[in-house]
Parts: sequence; structure tokens; C-alpha cells
Amino acid sequence: MKKKLAVLLAGTMVMASLVACGGNDAAPATNDAPAAEPAAEDTAEPEAEVEEEAPADDAAEAPAASGDTISVGFAQVGHESDWRAANTQNYQDTFSEANGYELSFVDADNDNAVQLEAVRNFIQQEMDYICIAPIETAGWDTVLQEAQDAGIPVLIVDRSVDADASLYETQIGCDMVAEGETAGNWLGEYLDGADAKILVIEGSVGASATLGRTEGFNNIAAQHSEWEILDSQSGDFTQAGGQEVMESFIKSYSDFNVVVCQNDNEAYGAMDAMDAAGITYGVDGDVIIISFDATHDGLQYTLDGKINCNVECNPLQAGFAADVIRKLQAGEAIDAQTIVTDEAFVAPGITSQYAVTMTQEVLDGRAY
Ligand code: AHR
Repeated sequence: MKKKLAVLLAGTMVMASLVACGGNDAAPATNDAPAAEPAAEDTAEPEAEVEEEAPADDAAEAPAASGDTISVGFAQVGHESDWRAANTQNYQDTFSEANGYELSFVDADNDNAVQLEAVRNFIQQEMDYICIAPIETAGWDTVLQEAQDAGIPVLIVDRSVDADASLYETQIGCDMVAEGETAGNWLGEYLDGADAKILVIEGSVGASATLGRTEGFNNIAAQHSEWEILDSQSGDFTQAGGQEVMESFIKSYSDFNVVVCQNDNEAYGAMDAMDAAGITYGVDGDVIIISFDATHDGLQYTLDGKINCNVECNPLQAGFAADVIRKLQAGEAIDAQTIVTDEAFVAPGITSQYAVTMTQEVLDGRAY
């Protein structure tokens, strides 16, 4: 392993035009009360995709003025990461009884069969709406058709599916390809032409978050003949998975200087593995770490200089789903897709045109 980080750092300082930190301060206007009955499907034609900043904590709450509650079934991926816990909490807070909803929540524990069964149960229970955070992109056409046949509007949230878009109302989530490209662009700026021997700890196989981040990073890597991606293995978006993959990488590769972890929990596991092997990382170490999610703990590691760059994926997305439901209830048009905007953060001492330099103030403002 080459001790080249200090040289790289000195060689790649650029003046930054910093992105405004807008992660949590804008919300869709959703204070109108939803009507008692869901709108007929043909009253709400999807419009073009829109980019949105994440809603504030209390945004998009839509109390049912009529006193009727709106039932929402939410088939969640699981509880694999800190990001997922924050996303679940955000749905439970937003779709609360106090806000006029009856939320049926299922944690599918990263099991496709469990998630499909949960959706079928929601259909049987005649939920007013179904939200699905799909574990994988594939395999959704049949059950989405069943929901449509039953007249239940479906919102695809967080991740995406490769099913026919006419089978669901809308898709809400971050642009995973753009996140991967941001990571790649930042690395290119930081290395400034120096060689990279890269190991990638991917997320769960078949998840759009994995596919998108991989595609985006590879798009940029293809522009850098001086980069070599040595290996790319799934750590399943978990800390244990990240540690296991990193331990196996360490056995197989003696010369690498970049580890890309597709979420914060994998990064924690990878750091544990490198600590145990005596490998240094971060701004003062031999290995550059890139992570995704930018959850509170991930940003603490970034502020501490252990993670060099952390690309955000904002989990506070339930407000957008509530806003879509409010509009459907009111018979208003909705957008076919809502892209939740996010930004990237880099360790102190690094400036970048692609990322905000971490400070204690940024960390203190983190809601998740
Ligand atoms: O789909 C979002 C991804 O899923 C987050 O990056 C990860 O932490 C989660 O498990």
C-alpha cells in the first residue's frame, strides 16, 4: 500500500463554490386536509419529474379534517442501516394517527418474498394507499397489477422498480446515479490525476440504490484511465457485511488506496476491518474512504477525518409521499417522479466544488 495521501491532499486543494446546505429546510405545502375518500385513479395524471429538497421534520402532515382516517400500508425494506431506521421513523411520524392516518408498517427484513406478501396483505385489507420501498428493482409487475386491479394507488418510495410505470402512481426518492457520479467526480478532483486502486463494497444485490451508485461511479471511472477498480462485492448495506467484505479484500489485495462503501454502515464495518489489519485511512491515512448516506454518525466520522467524502441520501422522504396522497385525495395532478435532492460532504481540510466541507455546525444541524 502506498503512502501517498498527504501528497494527494496538497495537490488537490481547490477553491470551492460550496453547495448551500438545504437538506432539511424546504417542504412541499401539505397543510391542506385530505378528503375522506381517495380520488379516482383517472383524476390524477402524472406530470414531469421534479427535483425537491427534503421536507422539514414536521412537513407534509395532513390532518384529516373530516375525522376520517386514511389507511396506508408501508412495505419497508428492513432495518439494515441507520439510514433505514431514520426513514422508518420519518414515515411513522408523518403517517401518524394525529395526522389523520392509520399506518400499517411491515419490515420485510430484506426478504423479497416477505415484502411481496406484505403488499398482497395490504391489498386484501383494502388499504387506501400502499407505499413500497422495493428491496430489488425486479419482480414487481404482477403484484402491482393486482393492486391496480383492486383500485389501490401505489407509491414507489426510496428505491425504484423496473416495472411498467402505468402500474403505480409515482416514484419518490434520491437520484442514485447522480450520487455515484458525485462520488466519482469528487475523487477525480481530489486525486488530480494520481493513480487509484479502488475497492468497492456495494449495497444489496439488485437494489436500485446499488445499481445506481455503481453505474454513476463507473461512469466517472471510465473517464480516468489512471484508475483501476480491483474488485466490487456486496456488503448488503450492513456493518457486518461491510466488515466481512473488507476482511476478504484485505486478504486478496495488498495494494489499494481507495475504498468506496455504498452506505455508512458498510463504511463502519470496513473501518473496523482496516483497524484490525493495521491499515490507516481517512485524511491522515493510506486509504481514501468514500461513503454514502451522510447520516449523523457518518458525518461525525467525516468531521473526524476518517471518511474523506460522504455523499448524502436524504431519508426524510415521507413528507413527499403524504403530499402525493393529499393531492390524490383532492383529485389534483401529481408528478410522475419526485427526486429528493441531496448533497455531499468532505472532511475538514478538503475543499471541493462537489461537496460541503464538514463543520461542527453542519453536524449539529443533522436531523438523522
Ligand atoms: O435505498 C437507500 C439505501 O438503503 C441507503 O443508502 C442504505 O443505507 C439503505 O439500506
